[in-house]
Amino acid sequence: MKPVLVLLVSMAWTFTGAQHYYQGLMDYLENRLLAIEDRMQLWHEQSHRYHTELLDFKKLTAETMDGLRQEHSMLFKDLEGAGVRVDRMEREMDYVESQTSPRACVNKADKVVEQGAWALEESRGEEEEEDDWEELHSRVSDCVEIISSIRSVKILKRVGSPKGMWTRDPKSSKVYVFNGTAGDSFYQFDSVREFSRSPGVNNSRRITLPSEWTGPGSAVYNGYLYFIQQEADRDVQVVKYDLLSELVTDSAMFPLEGRASVYNLNPETIADLTADDEGLWLLYASSDSEPNISLAKMDPATLDIEQIWDTRCPRENAEAAFIVCGTVYVVYNTRLASRSRVQCVFDVNDMVISEEAPLLYFPRRYGAHTSLKYNPEEKQLYGWDDGYQIIYRLTMKRKLLV
Ligand SMILES: *[C@@H]1O[C@H](CO)[C@@H](O)[C@H](O)[C@H]1NC(C)=O
Ligand SMILES: *[C@@H]1O[C@H](CO)[C@@H](O)[C@H](O)[C@H]1NC(C)=O
Ligand SMILES: *[C@@H]1O[C@H](CO)[C@@H](O)[C@H](O)[C@H]1NC(C)=O
Repeated sequence: MKPVLVLLVSMAWTFTGAQHYYQGLMDYLENRLLAIEDRMQLWHEQSHRYHTELLDFKKLTAETMDGLRQEHSMLFKDLEGAGVRVDRMEREMDYVESQTSPRACVNKADKVVEQGAWALEESRGEEEEEDDWEELHSRVSDCVEIISSIRSVKILKRVGSPKGMWTRDPKSSKVYVFNGTAGDSFYQFDSVREFSRSPGVNNSRRITLPSEWTGPGSAVYNGYLYFIQQEADRDVQVVKYDLLSELVTDSAMFPLEGRASVYNLNPETIADLTADDEGLWLLYASSDSEPNISLAKMDPATLDIEQIWDTRCPRENAEAAFIVCGTVYVVYNTRLASRSRVQCVFDVNDMVISEEAPLLYFPRRYGAHTSLKYNPEEKQLYGWDDGYQIIYRLTMKRKLLV
């Protein structure tokens, strides 16, 4: 019996011990679960707070962005206002200038403006001044402008051979293209735009002369072509040709000794004609031994020679020349074509002093000019450079009157 009791007692004891042990474990687990629940509650709260903060931040950002956007548009408006003010100021300055400086060389009634981008750009400011313009023009007859800079260059196209000449009649706005250095024909286009659009010379009228033109030194003015003619062993002739009726209306002999050409770098240019409001001008070399370029003024109606000057500008290294307001600008280069530059000026009225005339550099190009023809209405040069037809836009200033 005794061992049975002992076993029972020991079993009871063990049972009680196990019960204690399990109770403890349960308590422990319950506490852990409570702690985890607490922590989860905390996390939940925290994440809620973060979410709210994030929303606040978003709202703040949106507000700041709005503010920035408003400031930006305000700034933009301010800038626009300033732009308008600058525009107005410029126009006022133009007006003041037009009141104090006579704009000669420009005849409003005859002004034919190309519909190009440049013309559009200009037409905005010009209309308002037109009344003053007319009044000024009637008051002023003398040309008082001098080139101050080459404002821009526009390479229009490349047609024909490396040497040639092109020009625009300021009165009719028609364009004339003389390919090469001699020939009996040339091309007429209705406008610069027409010429620029045309494939090659396709959209042109081809005009054939009764005799050959010699050298890229022709001039077109008011429906007339003036050209140089030099047939073998004969004297140089200046010929006037009516482009409408296609008839030679006059011609005159121009006595030149030998076969000297006016520009040393372009030997094909025997003599160079320019026609403008003031008359018909001829640049030439009076003889082989004469180092300087000579200038003659002719009557465009009768081709009479009215006056002759020695420009004192050397023929050596000259490639072309043009006349603006009675001032000759001679353009020089080097035999290996580099940068063309105006390095000598001659004013028939002796009003331009050489210090006043700027040393003008043409924009860098790879060729050399065979001809440069000035259009007084547009203040543009029509240049032929290695087969490229180029327009140079000029900025003018007033001659210092003594
Ligand atoms: C220009 O002249 C050259 C020869 O001098 C000739 O080969 C060319 O076809 C001419 N171009 C035009 C468009 O007349
Ligand atoms: C000029 O027109 C003729 C047909 O009239 C055409 O054969 C030729 O290709 C044209 N030239 C150019 C340069 O488009
Ligand atoms: C040519 O012009 C220069 C000035 O550039 C002058 O010194 C020279 O005497 C002139 N020569 C002749 C022959 O007129």
